[in-house]
Amino acid sequence: MTSTEIRQSFIDFFEEKKHTIVPSASLLPQSPGLLFTNAGMNQFVDYFLGSEKPPYEPARATDTQKCIRAGGKHNDLDDVGYDSYHHTFFEMLGNWSFGDYFKEEAIEWAWELIVEKWGFPAERLYATVYSPDEAAGDPSSFDQESYDFWEKLFKAKNLDPKKHIVRGDKKDNFWMMGNTGPCGPSSELHVDITPKGDTGGKLVNKDSDECIEIWNLVFVQYNANEDGTFTELPSKHVDTGMGFERACNIIQNTKQFTDFSNKPSNYATDVFTPIIKKLEELSGKEYKDIYPKSVDVDKSKLDSDMKTAIAFRVIADHIRTLAFSIADGINPGNTGRNYVIRRILRRAVNYGRTLNFLGEQAFLPDLVDTIVEEFGEVFPELKTRAEKIKKTLKSEEETFNRTLAKGLVKFKKELETNKDKKLAGDFAFQLYDTFGFPLDLTEILCQQNGIKLDTKKFDELMLKQKELGKKGQKDQVIKALKFKSEVVTKFVGFFSNSTKANVKEIHEQDGIKAVIFDRTPFFAEMGGQDGDTGWLVIDDKKIPVTKVSKIGDAVAHIVSKDIEIKVDDVIGLLIDRSRRTKIEKHHTATHLLNWALKEIVSEDTVQQGSSVTTDRLRFDFTGEALTKDQVIEVENKVNEAIYQGDAVSWLEKPYTEVKDNKDITQFFGDKYGERVRVVQIGGKMEQLDGYSMELCGGTHVNTTGELEIFKIKSEGAISAGVRRIEAVVGSAADSYIAERSEELDIEVEESLKKIKELNTQLKEFEVETVEIPTTESADLVDKEIYLHALKEAVVSADKAVKKKLTAKIASQADEMLSAAIETGGNIVEKFDGDSDLVAELMNSCKKKKFAGAAFFVADDGQKLHLGAYVGTDGISEGFQAGKLIQEFSKLAGGKGGGKNDTARGAAPQRDKAAEILKQAKKKLA
Ligand code: SER
Repeated sequence: MTSTEIRQSFIDFFEEKKHTIVPSASLLPQSPGLLFTNAGMNQFVDYFLGSEKPPYEPARATDTQKCIRAGGKHNDLDDVGYDSYHHTFFEMLGNWSFGDYFKEEAIEWAWELIVEKWGFPAERLYATVYSPDEAAGDPSSFDQESYDFWEKLFKAKNLDPKKHIVRGDKKDNFWMMGNTGPCGPSSELHVDITPKGDTGGKLVNKDSDECIEIWNLVFVQYNANEDGTFTELPSKHVDTGMGFERACNIIQNTKQFTDFSNKPSNYATDVFTPIIKKLEELSGKEYKDIYPKSVDVDKSKLDSDMKTAIAFRVIADHIRTLAFSIADGINPGNTGRNYVIRRILRRAVNYGRTLNFLGEQAFLPDLVDTIVEEFGEVFPELKTRAEKIKKTLKSEEETFNRTLAKGLVKFKKELETNKDKKLAGDFAFQLYDTFGFPLDLTEILCQQNGIKLDTKKFDELMLKQKELGKKGQKDQVIKALKFKSEVVTKFVGFFSNSTKANVKEIHEQDGIKAVIFDRTPFFAEMGGQDGDTGWLVIDDKKIPVTKVSKIGDAVAHIVSKDIEIKVDDVIGLLIDRSRRTKIEKHHTATHLLNWALKEIVSEDTVQQGSSVTTDRLRFDFTGEALTKDQVIEVENKVNEAIYQGDAVSWLEKPYTEVKDNKDITQFFGDKYGERVRVVQIGGKMEQLDGYSMELCGGTHVNTTGELEIFKIKSEGAISAGVRRIEAVVGSAADSYIAERSEELDIEVEESLKKIKELNTQLKEFEVETVEIPTTESADLVDKEIYLHALKEAVVSADKAVKKKLTAKIASQADEMLSAAIETGGNIVEKFDGDSDLVAELMNSCKKKKFAGAAFFVADDGQKLHLGAYVGTDGISEGFQAGKLIQEFSKLAGGKGGGKNDTARGAAPQRDKAAEILKQAKKKLA
């Protein structure tokens, strides 16, 4: 089977089991906790949680899902290229039950597909089941049910279940999407792909590429909460994920499962070979399918053949990640997922050096056409965004090459002044850290220049950086701090950035110290406002505070455990002011947005939640989707307020005094303390007469003018009836506008090109061309409107061209029909066209009183449209139009029907058109 057939076979199998086929979700995840879509189940989270009802009847779905695992909880980046089966991007084939079937069907169907339908040898299969360490507090209990179902299946094949069912702990057999979210025990199928297949289960879950997990069946039963507890979900669900590339590997590389003597590899399948071939062509190097003994090998000891093989694989893997993510709008950038993409691109470019791509010109864009050819049918976004992908890769790769070139200048300067023929490790580290030089490259440069490199120091610095990174991660789980505190820390950060404070308590845990003071200018995360970072100032030293957390009324300041500090010390506290200001700007903007939504969209807009950070604001509210015009009006309203430079003031009041004031926005049902803060924008300061007034404990800028500019990035639904707006102000808005503007330019260019092409065709038909809209404005909103107009023009030009083409083909067909009527007999013909053409042809048959039988196939480039017409002679020969359609549409996976004299249908598999024609001719001959 080809990979296309394998994908289709999986989906067909589950369609037969009454699953609805759904498209892959975008790689940009819906869940804010994820960097990328990392599993097929991501798009179904609301169905698992029960907050939305699945629209499928029965409640089952199947698909192939684009996934990236290169950051966050599931991260395979470092193994890629060194082994035969890990990828940053992969397709996950899956089937789901939303409160419908459960373990029995999931397991039996998995077996039916893999063993009975595809022919995997059962003796090479191992199933794992969840066996928790209950003493360690692992959730749930031993999965006896799954064990029993697998036992039955193995026994039926005369295999020993004790050997073929392996118990797995929470790490291997309890699947969680991220730290929070739907989860549950899982049962996996592993395949022994050693030459003899006689490992007896010893390699299961041992990170061996000789026994690989191919399918994960998760029985979703719980939600993992932020505090580490698990809540039972209202219903039980199934979430399975099969590694598509792994399935292709085993099916394609073992001669129908008879020959495992060559190590099967995902890269030796038709998923990757076209990319590798293209790389061979571009680089002039030859790919060998060889692998190091382990992914942990000492990389400096690899010989050049091995380095070349790894480079081929890394690039073949990374280019897919890059192309698919850019197609989904995830561009290389400086933060979060965009930064991960940038790093992957840089890795690919670095590995490219091994394949002779030396940076004179970009090579990644040259791989895009191959990707589009291979995957564009299944993922059409690759086709439509191909140009954008190429342009982005080109400019990003060129920028990186320039950065490397700057590093090279620095290296040369260093050489000139370096007397002792040894390159210092910290210099090599600077080249790595600032200029993106991999150590390999620095080593080569040193060799070429006859100097030594102090790798020991480099390694030390690298380790230190990794540890720092790890520390940073630990600080993320600060909510798990287990100590209590009775201290009441006074917050003095509304007006000051620094203060002297008295150390009241120090707690140590997991390599950090949590220091509690009597007072602090640090704002601890609350009401969606990100907490502060900053420094403790001890003598003249600034010690980083990486996070602050509330423990009751106390505020804990998290610092490294090595800091010497004791209770009763009086030390300085200083917040990172520039960071806080960016957050405050976004916070003030949420107040303006809340007000503008009420003014423009509906007075009944109710805030559901918000989150403000240095680089964006998120605002969730109940209501309908905003129209494009409303988005613009809301933006304008907020920008007018910014332009006015209104005062932002606040005053404290007893809650009882303000609780019934309808002009003050507050969360009904929220518990407020005795005294509350009212934040007011506009009006006479502190007089409770502003146009925006909200109860709010967060911090703000002093005037709206400080926000500079407000721009909405997106507006969309996050659950039924709840919308989310993401917006930016200040410098974050400037960067966004520049980036978006560039994207729009590309799209405008593409649309213009398309209209011109279509107009040329219209001219050839000698009909009126479509007018091309113009614009003078470079303003972002105007550009969006302009693009919209261009897209509309493309649609109408496209329609006009189609109409002409159909008419042309119809008249040719008409001539053919007349000729056929004269000579008698039946007709079987194929045309380029759509369902309109088929309708037209059938009408002609009717009008001309064609007596025979006719079968038409029209191909519109997306699917086949079928039509059958049977005249009086045809009927007496025993033909029925409805039956003809039923019989032939099936050949291309389609359906249709109708009456005895006329019937229509459609079919998705365009490559089967020839087969249909052949069979139809045979029948009607
Ligand atoms: N969610 C599970 C996984 O990703 C099964 O689909 O492995």
